[in-house]
Amino acid sequence: MILTLAVSGYRSLRDIVLPLDRITLVTGANGSGKSSLYRSIRLLAEVSQGQAIASLAAEGGLNSTLWAGPEAFSRAMKQGEVPVQGTVRKGVVSLKLGFADEDYGYAIDLGLPADAGRSLFSMDPEIKAEALWAGEALSRSNEIAARNGPTVRVLNAHGQRIPVFQNLARFDSMMTHAADPKDGLELLV
Ligand SMILES: Nc1ncnc2c1ncn2[C@@H]1O[C@H](COP(=O)(O)OP(=O)(O)O)[C@@H](O)[C@H]1O
Ligand SMILES: [Mg+2]
Repeated sequence: MILTLAVSGYRSLRDIVLPLDRITLVTGANGSGKSSLYRSIRLLAEVSQGQAIASLAAEGGLNSTLWAGPEAFSRAMKQGEVPVQGTVRKGVVSLKLGFADEDYGYAIDLGLPADAGRSLFSMDPEIKAEALWAGEALSRSNEIAARNGPTVRVLNAHGQRIPVFQNLARFDSMMTHAADPKDGLELLV
């Protein structure tokens, strides 16, 4: 059973960590974000099965999927003096998704390549980071596999963290590509 769902920068979900129970009822007025929540779960499932790019393309691309509001709320916005609306983005584009169940946790950070806009395909999202860990929260000691840009490290049967990829394509997930019955069994599971 999934115990926790975390979403950041997805549609109207700016930053949410949601504890789940065996049955979780989500209610709210129209436009409060129920469908965004449901869709984020589907996206997370597809992304971790290696479908990140196809799945985001089906949603209209990363740019229409990202939180479109302001990066920060000014005092005037909070006081209702100016409308809450997005302006030109200054920070790094980032869509983060994660979940934890009784056994494992997994999280992914999607963004745009550093050369975004310079080539025809460079507006395609890339996977910036991924992590798989044992238990509910990631720490240094319980990390099973971690991807940082093109490199993937996996905990092997001898308890060593070994590099299994140095140049994983930016749209490929470690969940599909580093899953191996020898080093990377948990990714397979
Ligand atoms: N990329 C985005 N950034 C910010 N808000 C968005 C984005 N895409 C959709 N929204 C807004 O998110 C709100 C929540 O929509 P939705 O999840 O469909 O709500 P509900 O299902 O509860 O009616 C809507 O008001 C919609 O305009
Ligand atoms: Mg809805």
